[in-house]
Amino acid sequence: TYVVTEACIRCKYMDCVEVCPVDCFYVGENMLVIHPDECIDCGVCEPECPAEAILPDSDERAAAWVEHNRKFAQAWPNITRKGTPPPDADEWKGKPDKMQFFSP
Ligand code: SF4
Ligand code: F3S
Repeated sequence: TYVVTEACIRCKYMDCVEVCPVDCFYVGENMLVIHPDECIDCGVCEPECPAEAILPDSDERAAAWVEHNRKFAQAWPNITRKGTPPPDADEWKGKPDKMQFFSP
C-alpha cells in the first residue's frame, strides 16, 4: 500500500485524489489519508503530490503512518475531487514536525 505521511499536514494540495483509480483517499480537516486495504499499489498518486507526502509502505519513513491511515480512513469521508488547498499551503511545504498540528 501507499500511505499519506506528515508532509501532507497543512498542505493538503489534493492533487492526489484526482488520479487514484480506486478512489481510496479520505479527507480530514488538514490532511488526507489512504485506506491501506483499498489501495491497489498502482503508485500513480506518489509523483502528483507537491509536498512529497505520499510514500510506499516499504519506505521506512512510512512505517509509522500505515495504522494512522487505516484508522482515519475508516472515520473520514471519501474524497475524489480536488478542492481548494489551504491559502498558506506553500508556507507549510517541507516544514518538519507538523504532527503537532494534526486535526483528527
Ligand atoms: Fe490510489 Fe494508486 Fe495511490 Fe493507491 S497508489 S492511493 S491505488 S493512486
Ligand atoms: Fe496531501 Fe499531497 Fe494529497 S499534500 S492532499 S498527499 S497531493
